[in-house]
Amino acid sequence: MDIDPRTYNIDPAAIEAAITEQTKAILPVHLYGQPANMDPIMTLAEVHGLYVIEDAAQAIGAHYKGRRVGSIGHAGCLSFYPTKNLGAYGDGGMAVTSDAALAEKVDILRRQGSEKKYHAEVLGFNSRLDSLQAAILGVKLKYLDRWNEARRQVAQRYNELLADLPVVTPYELPDAYHVYHQYTIRAPQRDALAAHLKKRGIGTMILSDSFAPSEALCQSRLQGGQPAGERGGQPGGALVAYVPGADPSATARGNSGHSGVLQQMKADTFNIAREPVVLRGS
Ligand SMILES: Cc1ncc(COP(=O)(O)O)c(C=O)c1O
Repeated sequence: MDIDPRTYNIDPAAIEAAITEQTKAILPVHLYGQPANMDPIMTLAEVHGLYVIEDAAQAIGAHYKGRRVGSIGHAGCLSFYPTKNLGAYGDGGMAVTSDAALAEKVDILRRQGSEKKYHAEVLGFNSRLDSLQAAILGVKLKYLDRWNEARRQVAQRYNELLADLPVVTPYELPDAYHVYHQYTIRAPQRDALAAHLKKRGIGTMILSDSFAPSEALCQSRLQGGQPAGERGGQPGGALVAYVPGADPSATARGNSGHSGVLQQMKADTFNIAREPVVLRGS
């Protein structure tokens, strides 16, 4: 179903029409670090007797009306992939729930479906979190809120510096504490902008370039178009993302940090014919 074009998250108004007798759960993804609009989703789930499983892979530490993402629905999924806001030094993830029976099922599944050692009752997977990663994450977790706050400050700085440019900067849903896993903008001249920034040593990523419904795998399962979602994946209204650093001193460093880079970008006003300038000083 389609997204809310302001937040890129699931549009609660589009959910009801997509519910069928086979629907078991609603799976909101808190994309780029912004919580989905959970109140109407929870209401719909209650009315239709559905589970809500939050994909909080990109949004650990984010909150919605004071509640941490992952703890609002019946279960939540977290990713500790190294680039995530709380990243391990290898792969890792976590499922969270306050439903004891569900927790037990997940626990069995992650151990090859075995409740008792060497007796697999169901088909599961090998999905134990490595102890070394757990130890690293345990230390990093203490800093997560501070790092997320630093990301928000960097995002705020980007917003200020981009204010006069023809790009769509991130929209924050009221009551949502966005943790900016990605700082995502839409730009009419996406590719030219990405090339311009690359010349100046600023990495960006094109996200959702090939939008899933265009892929054969999903085609048969989706009815109708997803106009807002597709717009997100096409050059005319595409997404360019910068990943803001968690280091609060980046702002203070001025021209050697990303804020300095954007200051320069503003001064250039996309004059891509100009010679590249050195933006990362010593
Ligand atoms: C929104 C979202 N969901 C799920 C995942 C999968 O996480 P993992 O790679 O840890 O399984 C990712 C990882 O990129 C993600 O961004």
